[in-house]
Amino acid sequence: MNIRAAVITVSDKGSRGEREDLSGPLLASRLKGMGAEVVEQFILPDEPDQVAAALAEMADSGEIDLIITTGGTGAAPRDRTPEATLEVIDRRMPGLAEILRFEGYKKTPFAVLSRGVAGLRKQCLIVNLPGNPNAVRDDMDILDSLLPHAIQMAKGEHLEHGSEEHES
Ligand code: MTE
Repeated sequence: MNIRAAVITVSDKGSRGEREDLSGPLLASRLKGMGAEVVEQFILPDEPDQVAAALAEMADSGEIDLIITTGGTGAAPRDRTPEATLEVIDRRMPGLAEILRFEGYKKTPFAVLSRGVAGLRKQCLIVNLPGNPNAVRDDMDILDSLLPHAIQMAKGEHLEHGSEEHES
């Protein structure tokens, strides 16, 4: 399946060029590794209006199946990526965010400090990851096997459940 993906790094310092963005490129390379085409990749400051507008515009274009954000999910005063995401999604997919915190906790208890959410706007899946490259690596290890199926479902391409590997 062809997955058209976008990566947004949400970081004040990153957007001002004061901190090298390691997580965005890592995320893009992990997405390419799972066979996705990365059609957009950019950095935004922690401005929820800008983040929400970018998410909505890309989802509404019908040309992007998956948007992954990195950063702005914690408890710092300007961390607002989850709020920006909740503003634009029409259906939440809480299980994706839950498994990242649950599995992440086994690596570092601080994983539960991410308030990241996941959900769909129209047929586009949006997932928030923390800003730390280690978190991106851990989380992509988990999402690798889940995203293709979720995206197929979102696009209405996976309505038959007979040919899956798992038993139900
Ligand atoms: N999850 C994993 N797997 N590994 C990590 O190192 N860092 C945590 C958490 N999730 C981390 C993680 C920390 S320290 C914070 S503050 C939150 O993600 C939020 O990060 P963010 O504000 O950069 O999005």
